[in-house]
Amino acid sequence: MVRYLTGFQPTGVLHIGNYFGALRPAIEMQDKGEAFYFIADYHALTTVHDPGMLREHIRGVAIDSLACGLDPQKACFFRQSDVPIVTELAWILSNVTSMGLLERSHSYKDKLARGISSSHALFAYPTLMAADILLYESDIVPVGKDQKQHLEITRDIAIKFNERYGPVFKLPEPSIRDEVATIVGLDGQKMSKSYGNTIELFLEERALRKRIMSIVTDSTPVEAPKDPANSTIVSLYRLFATPEELAAMEGDFRAGGFGYGDLKKRLFEIIWERFAPMRSRREELLANPEHVDEILAAGAGRARKVAEQTISRVRSAVGIGSPTS
Ligand code: TRP
Repeated sequence: MVRYLTGFQPTGVLHIGNYFGALRPAIEMQDKGEAFYFIADYHALTTVHDPGMLREHIRGVAIDSLACGLDPQKACFFRQSDVPIVTELAWILSNVTSMGLLERSHSYKDKLARGISSSHALFAYPTLMAADILLYESDIVPVGKDQKQHLEITRDIAIKFNERYGPVFKLPEPSIRDEVATIVGLDGQKMSKSYGNTIELFLEERALRKRIMSIVTDSTPVEAPKDPANSTIVSLYRLFATPEELAAMEGDFRAGGFGYGDLKKRLFEIIWERFAPMRSRREELLANPEHVDEILAAGAGRARKVAEQTISRVRSAVGIGSPTS
């Protein structure tokens, strides 16, 4: 059975880019193998410094993932910090992680460039991520392109460890989602929290409408034909529409006579309608916080079993646990 593992950082509110880029592909994979999905709250501590906010985001990721179809009967879904063994492994792995390896991290440099304050944890972020991946003996790690280097670092760390102590870790394979799936934001750039151009998935009706109406368009007049190929409205519509609906939308762009305001309304309507089932599941989960806690506790229980086995092999390999017979 192939084991898939990925982590979701609780650093913000779920938006359409996260949904199509990360969450939905992960949900589809829960049917293909043994899925381990977790909320990377230890990682989020590197950038979220308000405890109330962190708690809210952790809860939000849990509820939104379940609402969108993450099935805890299929996937082992847990909070990273519920299995603190991962921090022990991160420490042990630090000893086979060279400074140079971390100094070359693009993600670290990008974060500094964005004004995030530097800390040991921010620097060591990839080692903790390697610990997640190796602790749960993952075969395949589905991530976005921005995480590719983190997976290379993980493999380097595992190889170094195995060279020093013997074959303890299996080497994970990344599964990098292709760029075709880039989701555009309100301004036509890649949708990302750091660009402030996101469309959150679970906005109230009026707020969502307002967000959609703020999509940046050119000044082509209502009557004039418009080019669907370069339109943010069409690229977002494509994510939700059937081929027939998409063809109709593109036809109306080319025909002219439809203003951007009308076309945006159509986009709003399809988003609102397609997420209706998720919205109602989310309402149920919000009304039932104990149920969410139970799901996470059960996931942590399953995850802990795997973690305990791995860590005892690691401890004996390095000489701080009793030798294995
Ligand atoms: N760094 C990942 C991100 O920002 C989150 C993450 C933490 C993760 N640990 C992981 C992803 C382990 C895959 C595997 O998206």
